Amino acid sequence: MLEVAGLNAFYGDSHILHGVDLTVDTSDRVSVLGRNGSGKTTLMKSILNAGPRIYGRICLDGADLADEPSFQRARSGLSLVPEDRRSFPHLTVRDNLLIALTAAGKRTGLDIEQVLDTFPMLKPLTARYGSQLSGGQQQMVAVARGVMPRPRCLLLDEPTEGLAPVIVRQLAASLVRLCDEFNIGLLLSEQNIWFARFCTQRVYIIENGRIVFSGSWDEFDSRPDVKHLYLAV
Ligand SMILES: Nc1ncnc2c1ncn2[C@@H]1O[C@H](COP(=O)(O)OP(=O)(O)OP(=O)(O)O)[C@@H](O)[C@H]1O
Ligand SMILES: [Mg+2]
Repeated sequence: MLEVAGLNAFYGDSHILHGVDLTVDTSDRVSVLGRNGSGKTTLMKSILNAGPRIYGRICLDGADLADEPSFQRARSGLSLVPEDRRSFPHLTVRDNLLIALTAAGKRTGLDIEQVLDTFPMLKPLTARYGSQLSGGQQQMVAVARGVMPRPRCLLLDEPTEGLAPVIVRQLAASLVRLCDEFNIGLLLSEQNIWFARFCTQRVYIIENGRIVFSGSWDEFDSRPDVKHLYLAV
């Protein structure tokens, strides 16, 4: 479904991603692990064409996205939840979710009640304004917004950063349920290995903008050296 091949990304003269190859098949869920500054956010933004200057192939369902701008990539079925978890402060939670449907273009998004059913924490908050939410609540809203357009592939950039363990567990359960129920593929960037393992079937490790490991979680477990070399654990 999503194929990234030979992706190079630059900020000005800084060469950040070096020939990144990765795939997310239909309904596949994949993690990208890596230390601070390893290139996770740059990868996510590059796939959406939302910032870095990029070279390489990015295909969705066989169609080369080439020079498509980000809004077009969103209409084609990619949805990015960025790490800054922004919501519209002057809109209610309900409207924050509904407005996300515009990103779907002509594709049909999800029904808001179904999404709220999957995020029990959000249900009592639907009339609150974005400005009245805690960081963790905003993060839930950001993830719920990301799935509203019913993307082919959801790109989630470090969703657990700053969340309490109990919220991390709730988010994991909601995310897996949504992806399963609506056949949404997932590319998840994380430093929380528990969350990544719970939510995905495969893992890539990125270091200095290069993929240095890819495999199943069993393969990951059989390589403690990889974990020690490339992750801060
Ligand atoms: N706008 C920018 N301009 C120039 N360099 C940047 C920019 N954004 C990021 N970088 C650099 O690109 C490299 C990769 O950063 P990136 O944000 O992709 O890492 P990350 O893996 O997401 O890190 P973190 O876990 O801290 O979020 C870093 O060396 C960073 O300093
Ligand atoms: Mg980042």
